[in-house]
Amino acid sequence: MIAIISGTNREPSMSKEIALFYQKILAEFGSNTDIIDLGKLPTDFLNVALYKNSGKSDAFNPMRIQMKMSAKMIFIVPEYNGSFPGVLKAFIDALEFPNTFKNKKCALIGLSSGSQGGGLALSHLTDILNYCGANVLAQKPRLARIEASFQDGEFSNPTYLELLKEQAQAFLDF
Ligand SMILES: Cc1cc2nc3c(=O)[nH]c(=O)nc-3n(C[C@H](O)[C@H](O)[C@H](O)COP(=O)(O)O)c2cc1C
Repeated sequence: MIAIISGTNREPSMSKEIALFYQKILAEFGSNTDIIDLGKLPTDFLNVALYKNSGKSDAFNPMRIQMKMSAKMIFIVPEYNGSFPGVLKAFIDALEFPNTFKNKKCALIGLSSGSQGGGLALSHLTDILNYCGANVLAQKPRLARIEASFQDGEFSNPTYLELLKEQAQAFLDF
């Protein structure tokens, strides 16, 4: 199973829109995916799903199990203060270690309002996923100036569409 993780709990979020778009690309290539939306985390997630409560939250466990069952994962990563969102790190910290990521395959897509497209965010997340035992695909599209490039569910920037399709094909072959 392939999971697409929308990497923020902000609502509404551009990451969720990009996740839905990427799901369509993979469907065109014949692959079924599930979206794991951090916007659907339990509101008391920090209090019920971490540390001594790890694995004990009925509200969070379906997401935890879904992540563990996924052989491949695609992270949609918005740039927040020069990195990836803190909620995404908390989400990773609440997953079963090391079996959630060990020997799994991950792909990353960054987006930002500014000019970096989440370059540092993708780098930071790559380090963490590698630490957790996952292999990360080299192609990591950075979608800078996202508001000007993606409107009403479509890319106005054809290069971004091309990069995402190339990445999706490479990820299926990974
Ligand atoms: C808390 C926060 C921090 C942000 N920090 C940055 C930043 O460092 N650089 C940047 O270019 N954009 C930054 N942005 C803008 C987001 O990258 C941009 O709005 C992105 O589309 C957000 O994705 P989302 O809608 O999925 O949250 C920030 C947005 C938020 C909410």
